[in-house]
Amino acid sequence: MAGVNSCIKYSFFVFNFFFWLCGILILGLAIWIRVNKPEKEFFSDDSVLSNASGNTLIGVGSIIVIMGFLGCCGAMRESRCMLLTFFIGLLLILILQIMTGIIGVTHKEQYEHFLNETLHKNVHLLAKTDEKAKLFQKSLIIFQKQYKCCGLIDGASDWGANFQQNSESCECLDKTNSSCETYEGKLVYKQACIVHLKVLVRKQIMITIGIAFGAAAFEVFGLIFSMVLFCQIGNKCI
Ligand SMILES: *[C@@H]1O[C@H](CO)[C@@H](O)[C@H](O)[C@H]1NC(C)=O
Repeated sequence: MAGVNSCIKYSFFVFNFFFWLCGILILGLAIWIRVNKPEKEFFSDDSVLSNASGNTLIGVGSIIVIMGFLGCCGAMRESRCMLLTFFIGLLLILILQIMTGIIGVTHKEQYEHFLNETLHKNVHLLAKTDEKAKLFQKSLIIFQKQYKCCGLIDGASDWGANFQQNSESCECLDKTNSSCETYEGKLVYKQACIVHLKVLVRKQIMITIGIAFGAAAFEVFGLIFSMVLFCQIGNKCI
């Protein structure tokens, strides 16, 4: 073939530069999660899940930064070695992604069961007064306000002796609303938060699947482009 098509070369460079920037952003987000630890108390006793998601983001961000760098440099320097490394790396990522997807789909029920068990296991924390329980309560209070629900599993009674001092976020403002009930002299939301939590988690899973499919499409383009460039460059390495 007669040399490198500069249109493909520079498109590939720009594409990978944005890819590299995204990787930097993801690393930033991972660090933010590490610092803020949002909503972790709902899902775990010892924040295993939030650490896992933080670590996953750090891993994904690093891989994207490396791949973006390889793509950018490989295109600009017209390096076959870098483009081949890029191609093999991207192919491995795509295969891994497909395998993870298959495992995820086949273990979906187990995951929902685990989530349900964890929430049932943690509901007793609402009626306790130690530090760990207080953290859990704080995140549920924020959740109750946002999703107009009260308690975790059975409703307001989950709060036990702590109900009165934490009732504000449970209280219905619209007195004619049929989704409210009276509990210990206060008008509170009837629905427990577990329903909303499960919907929220399911929504997050759907978003993850959407992102994975979108990423897979980009990866296929990346594979094609890097292979075309690789073939157009002669024998140059480095
Ligand atoms: C959730 O877990 C509780 C307690 O372990 C169980 O009684 C309930 O049936 C489970 N619900 C679902 C939808 O799996």
